[in-house]
Amino acid sequence: MRNKLYISRIAIILCFIILVTWLFIFRLPICQNQSAFKPHFPPRPSGSQVASIESWQMPDWVQRYNLTHLFDWTWDKNDDFVRCRVSTVYSPQPIACRIQSTTVVNDVLSYFDIHSDKGCIVDNVARLPNFTPHPLPRARSLSNTCSSLNIDHKWTLCKQSQSELDQRLPATTRFVTIAVFNAYIDTGYCHSQLPGTIFTEHATFHFQSWTNNLCYNDPIFYIPRVHPEHQYTELIDSIGVYLQAPGHFVPEQLPRLLRLLATAPKTAKVLVAKGGIADSLLDVLVERGIVTRDRIIPYDNNNRPYYFAKIVYRSESWPYLTDKNNSHHLYDRTDMQLVHRALATDGGDDDQQSKNKRNLVILIKRKDGGTRSIVEHLDMVAFINSRLKKSLGLHLEIFEAEGHVRDHIALFRRARIIVGPHGAGMLNVVWSSAGTYVVEIGYNKGMTFPQMYAEMSLHLEQHYWICKGYGNYDGPIHVDMDDFIYIFNEIIHEIEVETR
Ligand SMILES: *[C@@H]1O[C@H](CO)[C@@H](O)[C@H](O)[C@H]1NC(C)=O
Ligand SMILES: *[C@@H]1O[C@H](CO)[C@@H](O)[C@H](O)[C@H]1NC(C)=O
Repeated sequence: MRNKLYISRIAIILCFIILVTWLFIFRLPICQNQSAFKPHFPPRPSGSQVASIESWQMPDWVQRYNLTHLFDWTWDKNDDFVRCRVSTVYSPQPIACRIQSTTVVNDVLSYFDIHSDKGCIVDNVARLPNFTPHPLPRARSLSNTCSSLNIDHKWTLCKQSQSELDQRLPATTRFVTIAVFNAYIDTGYCHSQLPGTIFTEHATFHFQSWTNNLCYNDPIFYIPRVHPEHQYTELIDSIGVYLQAPGHFVPEQLPRLLRLLATAPKTAKVLVAKGGIADSLLDVLVERGIVTRDRIIPYDNNNRPYYFAKIVYRSESWPYLTDKNNSHHLYDRTDMQLVHRALATDGGDDDQQSKNKRNLVILIKRKDGGTRSIVEHLDMVAFINSRLKKSLGLHLEIFEAEGHVRDHIALFRRARIIVGPHGAGMLNVVWSSAGTYVVEIGYNKGMTFPQMYAEMSLHLEQHYWICKGYGNYDGPIHVDMDDFIYIFNEIIHEIEVETR
């Protein structure tokens, strides 16, 4: 009975919100047809215009960090670079208004094929293939560990065959970067933590389903008034799901940002999340010569201003996935290799040259008594120390996430073995080389133990192990010491064989 009351109350509130939104939008004037004043978009610029626009140049860092195989620079190949960037005389709508009809674009490739006056394809590259057979997590017994952690029906990695995994992780096949003309950047019409959708007076671009929210594929009819200081000629839109959360920023916004910085012109300003790990990672990008400070426009998530640019750039995986059972597009090898090489190598294949410097066993420690802190932390320290024979030259380092991200990167580049409970500390596996041993300790109650770090680590070509743990996502957890001892001994044995 209570439940029914509660549900009807929620229904009333929802109806009210929808009504207010509709009233708000329909009160607005209909947008003026700006294309009436707009000169026709020139298909080919004249000679003098070409001379005034520089030709496409690959950024130095793409070569320096050995990333050229991750892009194809479609617009340079197609001689589109100049066509796409010849400026049109255009300004955003002078007052907020509504448009009467618009399209939702899921397939950007076919849209820009037909509507070449609305934007163009900047890059369209096949993602890196998976290893075949697709690697599986290692465990003392994978089926037993999966059922003990209640992930046997949740993790694709627990329930699918290796040939199925190859099709599903990810289910996308390409990465596509687009340039959209006369475009606005949404501030979170669907949810305040989900900004970044590009829309124009003609279309709303949802070219990957990066949220499960119900409104994820809705068109945007509302055209905002954009303050002059938020209007640009060219703007890179890297913002996305949960702006500063490390677990979203590093594997989702960071690879997008890198793809955009690699393929869009250096003259474009760069809209990025502000605060938390986003700020520290931008320091690293600046130090590594990937972007200059003067290009960065921090997105203010409190005031959430609208942005407009004559050309807005965006990058996502392709095609758009609608099948909920088969909708995996994150943490693939391309993104992981891109992030790893750009932020944690000196260029090229670092694994050989730095192998002798990789002498750390890193044990990730969460705050004492905090969520997923390990009750047996000191027992683990004692056991690890007892196993580290001098002959292997390995040293134990306890990681508590102190200091700047640049120090974390330097530390994890030296990792030979990483051990830790599920949590943001595990993100640091992306700075570690292929061949690093990773042991993630799970838990069996509360929110399901997520699969993300397993995918990230496996796609980085690391030896990823799952260790049993007991307890709730929200509290301290116990590690299964028998399981841990078995796994750690196995790893030490493998390293002994490797170095023999
Ligand atoms: C998705 O998976 C569920 C459970 O395995 C199944 O019942 C459903 O039919 C599947 N849906 C599609 C579209 O394949
Ligand atoms: C650059 O990357 C490619 C592809 O991963 C690899 O085959 C090649 O050896 C790398 N080059 C250097 C100099 O490490």
